[in-house]
Amino acid sequence: MQAFFTIEQIDEVTAAVREKIKTSPRIGIILGSGLNDLAASVENAVTIPYSDLPHWPRSTVAGHAGQLVVGELEGQQVLVMQGRIHFYEGYTMGQITIPIRVMVRLGLEIMIVTNSAGGINQDFVPGDVMLITDNLNLMGMTGQNPLMGPNLDELGPRFPDMSQIYDAELSELARSSAAERGIILKEGVYVGLCGPSFESPADLRFLQMVGADAVGMSTVPEVIIAKHGGLRCLGISGISNKASLDGSSKTTHEEVIETGKVLTPKIEAIIRGVLKAS
Ligand code: HPA
Repeated sequence: MQAFFTIEQIDEVTAAVREKIKTSPRIGIILGSGLNDLAASVENAVTIPYSDLPHWPRSTVAGHAGQLVVGELEGQQVLVMQGRIHFYEGYTMGQITIPIRVMVRLGLEIMIVTNSAGGINQDFVPGDVMLITDNLNLMGMTGQNPLMGPNLDELGPRFPDMSQIYDAELSELARSSAAERGIILKEGVYVGLCGPSFESPADLRFLQMVGADAVGMSTVPEVIIAKHGGLRCLGISGISNKASLDGSSKTTHEEVIETGKVLTPKIEAIIRGVLKAS
């Protein structure tokens, strides 16, 4: 399994994508577990199965389709990842972030990431939507940062700043978009863990103590690569379940997918507003 990719390999994938699309996408959108529906609304869409692309990992999780959908949405040229790839599937950090390297190389300006997350903040209930204001990179802190290995100087600096990962202007657009559509938008810190096991009550109490509002198994490696490459990021979590800090209830993937049905229209509406205004 390949840990690091060279710029030549990234460019090989980028060329394979470019060859199949007619447009120059400006905004990348990554759809999380159970949140896949938005891809169906893309107009003049070209779809590219992940299996058609060199080096590109396949999505192996139920609830995650595995294709790129490139076309127009709300007047913007978009590239939608319908189905993301997770670290817990057994891929390397380098592999799961190839799609974002390609977004950087294609010249995208903005990346919108969505995910399903457990609500640690006790004010959150399943079905809430949370604007990600910052994240805790616990995967990185435990030795799994996607930027480890030779730096690709063509894409970004060796030691990229992470003082503001989530773009202030895009976050403001998300707030206005939600408000205009009557959707309550909570805000908070997302913590990214490796998974695939859900957290124990002790894990969750620890995460609460260190300032996490929502917990999931994705997003952080992606935004680190996006930020390294100069993309402006917007992050939205759909709270699919309440994290059980006292162990009194169980968390299941089925629940995550089921709540996704309530979350999808809200997240879609917010994103449409952001796209219109971007
Ligand atoms: N924990 C981790 N990841 C998740 C959760 C959770 O409770 N819900 C959805 N993704």
